[in-house]
Formats: sequence, structure tokens, C-alpha cells
Amino acid sequence: MNDHKGLFNSLYKNLISPILKKDSGIDAEYLTNFSLSLLSFSSRKQNWPLISSILKSINKEFCIIDKRLSQNICGIEFCNPVGLAAGFDKNGVAAKIWRDFGFGFAEIGTVTKFAQDGNPKPRLFRLAEEEAALNRMGFNNKGAENLVKNFIEQGIDITKNRNHICLGINFGKSKITDLSRATEDYLTSIKLLIPYCDYAAINVSSPNTEGLRKLQDPFRLREILREIKKLPFCPPLFVKIAPDLGFNDIDDICQLIIEENIDGIIATNTSIDRLGLETRKIKETGLLLSQEKGGLSGRPLQDRANRIIKHIHNINKEIILIGVGGIDSPEIAWERICSGASLVQLYTGWIYKGPKLVPDILNGIIQQLNYHQLSNIKEAIGSDLKWVTENKK
Ligand SMILES: Cc1cc2nc3c(=O)[nH]c(=O)nc-3n(C[C@H](O)[C@H](O)[C@H](O)COP(=O)(O)O)c2cc1C
Repeated sequence: MNDHKGLFNSLYKNLISPILKKDSGIDAEYLTNFSLSLLSFSSRKQNWPLISSILKSINKEFCIIDKRLSQNICGIEFCNPVGLAAGFDKNGVAAKIWRDFGFGFAEIGTVTKFAQDGNPKPRLFRLAEEEAALNRMGFNNKGAENLVKNFIEQGIDITKNRNHICLGINFGKSKITDLSRATEDYLTSIKLLIPYCDYAAINVSSPNTEGLRKLQDPFRLREILREIKKLPFCPPLFVKIAPDLGFNDIDDICQLIIEENIDGIIATNTSIDRLGLETRKIKETGLLLSQEKGGLSGRPLQDRANRIIKHIHNINKEIILIGVGGIDSPEIAWERICSGASLVQLYTGWIYKGPKLVPDILNGIIQQLNYHQLSNIKEAIGSDLKWVTENKK
């Protein structure tokens, strides 16, 4: 396997990784925003010779092109199955350069109808030892209209022929909108952004907007999805669910997904369960994890997110699944795909492991396709095939 001794990987390892080894030090949200502003600048100034040559080098280091990784899902051509999860690029400021980091798709957002500041800071915490994070950001974003503006500024064209990164957009409910008016709130932002999205993710699972998870109730969810489906040129629709649902609730959602002809499910969002870390202290606040509000992500979420994918795939193989939660290695990504996910997404693992995680996963998948003599990633989905190491072969 290519071991990526590239320049940008070395920079990440030497500059960023040491910061991520400790809970304290540079604030997690500050670090995210700083990185995002560099990426945003690069995305807007791609034509500058220096930026263009830096992006070319990044592309060379992180992009893996192989036909066996590509698949057509709901009419969308995904050049590989690894995507950036929602929440990192909420305002789409770096939408145009995610492909240079090797991603096959990026989910922009969560975006809401109204711009909003989110919850008071601090609201994002590293749990370095566990390679996890706790966040209670609360959909801080500049709103749907601003997202359109950002896409236009980066020259993202509405023909969706982008040579070629797929963009999903994740939609949430604005904090100031009452739950009873959620449908109208989602509709307003989706209408504005339809020309730009290859798929729309309906987020009813963030734990950081009061009452939002109640929209996972099949009665309310059906109303929202039906109205969205009526929109002209409605893109493929995915519902993003919480890892804290019981299997019975998940079964009800699956039934609704089938009945309403919705394309798929993104499983999962962050967890309000403390996943065995109840007594873990948050350094910045001095409180225990069990006393802090927010959603847990990263490695502790791995097993639960995988079990949910497996469960849904067993119920109905027609539901397209995007697996997310604790994916931080080629082995875990392969397991998620073999459990039933057609695509996977990264967030917390990508931060801890650095950008080389994407090519590592893609190379790992190619290696497994070779070992199991499969000609395309599609054949691995839900196959339950185990990861084979070279000497086991
Ligand atoms: C700081 C942070 C912000 C997030 N914001 C969003 C968001 O706005 N919308 C959303 O659907 N998911 C959001 N997520 C959840 C991720 O998309 C993902 O579902 C979750 O973190 C599990 O994946 P991971 O373990 O790879 O991080 C956020 C996660 C983190 C850590």
C-alpha cells in the first residue's frame, strides 16, 4: 500500500497532530475555523498560480483514481465512496476543493433557512485519548441564501457537471422556527439550493437544536418528506438519523422511507449517549461527560453506527445507506461497506488521522477488492466479507 510520505501529510503530522494529542491547548473550534479559512481562501483563489500549484500537489498526494471505486447511485456518479461528513464545511466555503483531498463527495451544511450563531462557546471539545469529540455547535451557519452566494463566488456551476465532486447539502431547521412550522423552514432552504445539490440530506437528528429529534417521529417526518418530494426537480433524498434510536423506531423510519419512495438513510449523527465515557472529565469545563450537553463522535461511536447500518441493510436492501460514525481506518471503512453502506463519510477520524486517511481507505478498499476478486465496490456492499491481511491470504 502507498504509505503517503508526502509533503502535506508530513506538515499535518508535524504541525497539527501534536496539538490533537491533548485535550487542552489550542481550542478545537478555533483550529477548525483557522484551517477552514485557509481552505476557503484556496477555493476562491484557485486561479492564482501559487494556489493552483499547491492544490495540484495536494491532489497528487491524496487522490486515488480507480474505476473499481466508482458507482452510480440514484443517477449520481460517485468517483469513490468516501465523503466528507456534514458539519465541517457548514457554509460551503471550500466546496470546490474537497475533491483535491481525495473525497468522492462532500456534504455541505447543515444549512438553515435563517443565519444563526449557534450555542455559546466553548462548544467543541477534543477527547484526544479516545480519538473522539463532543460538540454542541447548534447549527451555527450563515443561512441558505449565503450558501448560494458562496457557491456562485467559487464558480460552482448549476449544471452539476463539476469534473467531478458530488455535493450533498444537509438541511436543518432554524432555531427560531417552531417545530410545528418545520416543513416550511426546510422547504425554503431546499428550494434555494436545489440547483446545487446532487442529493439533499434531511437532518432530523442533531442533538443540539431543541426538539429537532422529535421530527424523527414517522408522522412528522412523513409530512416533511412528502412536501419536499413535491418540489420540482427534487434531488435524491436522504434522511440523517440519530444513533440513539431503538431498533423499533428505526424499523418505523425504514417503513416510511420505503412507502414515501425516499432514496436512503445517513446513519448516524452524533450520540447523546456517553458510550462508556460517562465519568470522563472535560478539561476545559471541569465537568464530567455525563454532565455536559452535546453529541459524541469519533471512535466510541464505531460499533453502534455499524450495528445500525447492519440492521437497516437486513431489513431492506433497497434503502441506500451512507455510513458515518467513528470511521478512522481502512478496516473500519471496509467493515461499514460490507455491513451495507454504499458510501461512507468521515469527520472526527479525518481530523485525528489527517488527510491521508482518505487515500489510505481507498487503497485499502482496492486491496480488499483484489483479495476477494471483486470487480467493483458495489459487489462488496452488504457482503459481510471480512478484512483480509496480506499474510492471512
Ligand atoms: C464539530 C462537529 C459538527 C457537526 N455538525 C454537523 C452538522 O452540522 N450537521 C450534521 O448532520 N452532522 C454534523 N456533525 C455530525 C457528523 O456529520 C457525523 O455524523 C458524526 O460526527 C459522526 O461521524 P464521525 O464519528 O466520523 O465524526 C458534526 C460533527 C462534529 C464533530
